[in-house]
Amino acid sequence: MLELEKNSLSEEIENLVKQFGSERQALLQILQAVQRKHKHVSDFAQQEIARLLNIHPVEVYSVISFYSFLCSEPKGRNIVRLCRTISCDMAGKDKVVTAVKRELGITFGETTNDGRVTLEFTNCLGMCDQGPVMLVNEKVFTHLNPEAAVNILNEVK
Ligand code: FES
Repeated sequence: MLELEKNSLSEEIENLVKQFGSERQALLQILQAVQRKHKHVSDFAQQEIARLLNIHPVEVYSVISFYSFLCSEPKGRNIVRLCRTISCDMAGKDKVVTAVKRELGITFGETTNDGRVTLEFTNCLGMCDQGPVMLVNEKVFTHLNPEAAVNILNEVK
């Protein structure tokens, strides 16, 4: 990260601390604001937040790891989440897993080089009778098979 970028990120976090306060309770709001703008909370941002709230960086990192809507690495423009819980598993999730990995050339937990897609697993989405289920950003797709999943991925820009 360039020095200029660091300075502007520090300034931005200082402003968030002014807005939300420097108490420990402000941590989540500050993290959400950084995540919203930058799509992740970088190591540097975590250190700055810890410094300004006077807490240990490990505490900041543990909050990020706890909440699935926060992340420390940049993600793709689209987040594709496949349910890995038992009903979807029994409905043929593994074949869908193989197909989407092959199609995107990445494995779960990774992002395509062009930043188009991040592939993740998720736990039960509450549509167990319609599995396998996949979430593309906010949209749910049910009754998937490998071909349908690949077609859906090809529609994602
Ligand atoms: S097990 Fe996949 S939606 Fe419930």
